[in-house]
Amino acid sequence: MSNEPVRKVFIKTYGCQMNVYDSDRMIGILSDEGYITTSDPAEADLVILNTCHIREKAAEKVYSELGRIRSLKQKHNGEMLVAVAGCVAQAEGEEIVRRAPAVDLVFGPQSYHRLPELIRRRQTNGQAVVEAEFPAEEKFGAMKNQVLGRQVSAFLTVQEGCDKFCTFCVVPYTRGAEYSRPVDQVIAEARAMATAGIREITLLGQNVNAYHGRTADGETCNLASLIARLSQIDGIERWRYTTSHPREMDAELIEAHAVNPKLMPYLHLPVQAGSNRVLKAMNRGHTAQDYIRTIERVRAARPGIAIAGDFIVGFPGETENDFRDTLELVNTIGYANAYSFKYSARPGTPAASREDQVPDEVKAERLGRLQNLLAEQAKGFLRSLVGQTMPVLLERAGRHGGQLTGRSPYLCPVHLEAPGATKGDILDVVINGVSANSLSAHIRQAA
Ligand code: SAH
Ligand code: SF4
Ligand code: F3S
Repeated sequence: MSNEPVRKVFIKTYGCQMNVYDSDRMIGILSDEGYITTSDPAEADLVILNTCHIREKAAEKVYSELGRIRSLKQKHNGEMLVAVAGCVAQAEGEEIVRRAPAVDLVFGPQSYHRLPELIRRRQTNGQAVVEAEFPAEEKFGAMKNQVLGRQVSAFLTVQEGCDKFCTFCVVPYTRGAEYSRPVDQVIAEARAMATAGIREITLLGQNVNAYHGRTADGETCNLASLIARLSQIDGIERWRYTTSHPREMDAELIEAHAVNPKLMPYLHLPVQAGSNRVLKAMNRGHTAQDYIRTIERVRAARPGIAIAGDFIVGFPGETENDFRDTLELVNTIGYANAYSFKYSARPGTPAASREDQVPDEVKAERLGRLQNLLAEQAKGFLRSLVGQTMPVLLERAGRHGGQLTGRSPYLCPVHLEAPGATKGDILDVVINGVSANSLSAHIRQAA
C-alpha cells in the first residue's frame, strides 16, 4: 500500500443524523483502502453525496450539486469517481444515472460496507454500478470506527428502518424494515468510543425507542434496558437518543428519565399535527390527547425536561381548523425546540396521490404562523434557564480567544470563558445570558 499515491475522498452529507453516522462509517472503510478525506471536491479522486429523500427540496439539492460536480469531473478528464449514496440512491436507483450521467456509483443505505468492492467493480467494468437492494443486515458488523478523532460527542446507530408507514413518509421505502442491532455489538461499539475519548453518545434510530435488540442469551432488550446497560460504561457521562415515536414511549423508558442521571433531560418526540382527523389520515396511530398524556408522564418523571418536536403543515385535506388544533397543541405542550415543514408530496407514498392537496401559499402562510409560535417558545425556554446552574460538556474552542463552546443537558449550546479548561471537561456553570439560539455562562465559583 505504501507505494500507492494517496487518494482523496470528499463526502457531503444531507438529511438526518443517521446519514452523518453512515458517512463516518464510509470514511472508516475507505481509510482502510488508503483514502484520506478532503474538504475540497476539486482535488478529490472520489466524491460521495450521501443523500436524503425526505422532502422534494432535499432530493433536488442533490441534482444541482451533481451539476457542479460534473464540471469538476470534466476538469479532471473524467478521472474522478462520483458516487450517490443514501436515501435518494435507494429511492431512485438507475434513474440517477439517467439524469446525471457523470455518476459512477449509486448505492443505498444498506450497502456501505461493500463500498470497496463497488469501486473495484466500477473500475473494471467501465460502466455505472447501481446497488439498491436491501441485502441481509450485515452492514453494521462490518464497519469500523476510525473517525472519532478529536470529537467529544458521537452518534451511534442502534436501530434502523421503519414499519410504521406514515402516509406522507418515504423512510420505510428508503431504509427498509425495522431492524435492531444486537446488544453486544452496541456495547462493544460504545466501549470503543469511550476508549477514543468520547464523553457523550446519542443513540440513533428512525424509531429509536422501538429498539428491541437481542442479548447474548437470546432475550429481547428494549431501549430502556439498553440505556441502563450502556450507562455502566466508564467514561461516557451523557446519553441521549433520537428520534422517538409517540407510540413507543413505554413506561420503562419514561422511568429511565427519572432514575438515570446520565440520561439527558431532552426528548425529541415528533407529533406532526394536532388534529386527530389529520393524525388519523397520517396513520400516526395516536391522538393528540395520547401525545399530551405521554408528555405529561415524561415531565412527571423528569421535571424540567426539554421537549422537542416535528411538525408538518398542509397535509392533504388539512383545514384551517385542523391547523388551529396544531397551534393549540403547541401551546399546550410548550416546546424547547422544534422542526417544522410544509408537507411535501413524495412519490410512491399514499398521501401523495390524494386529490385534496393544500395550495402552496396556504402551506407557507401556516408554516409562518407555526414557526413564529415555536420560535417564541424556544426563546422562552432559553430565558427560563438564566440564573440556573448546570453541567456543561465542553466541545470546542469558541469564536473568541479563551472562549469555549459546550452543551447544556438540554442540548442548547453554551458559550463561556473557561481559562485552563479543555474539550471534554464537564463544568458546573451559571447561565447568565441568552442570544439567538444559545446561552452564555460563567463558571460557578466554589462555595
Ligand atoms: N421517525 C421519525 C421521523 C423521521 S423523518 C418520526 O416518526 O417521528 C423526520 C421528519 O421529517 C418527520 O418527523 C416529519 O416532520 C418530516 N417529514 C417526513 N416526511 C415529510 C414529508 N413528506 N413532507 C414534509 N415533512 C416530512
Ligand atoms: Fe416516517 Fe412515520 Fe416511520 Fe417516522 S414513523 S420514519 S415519519 S413512516
Ligand atoms: Fe433523509 Fe433518509 Fe434520513 S430520507 S431524513 S436521510 S432516513
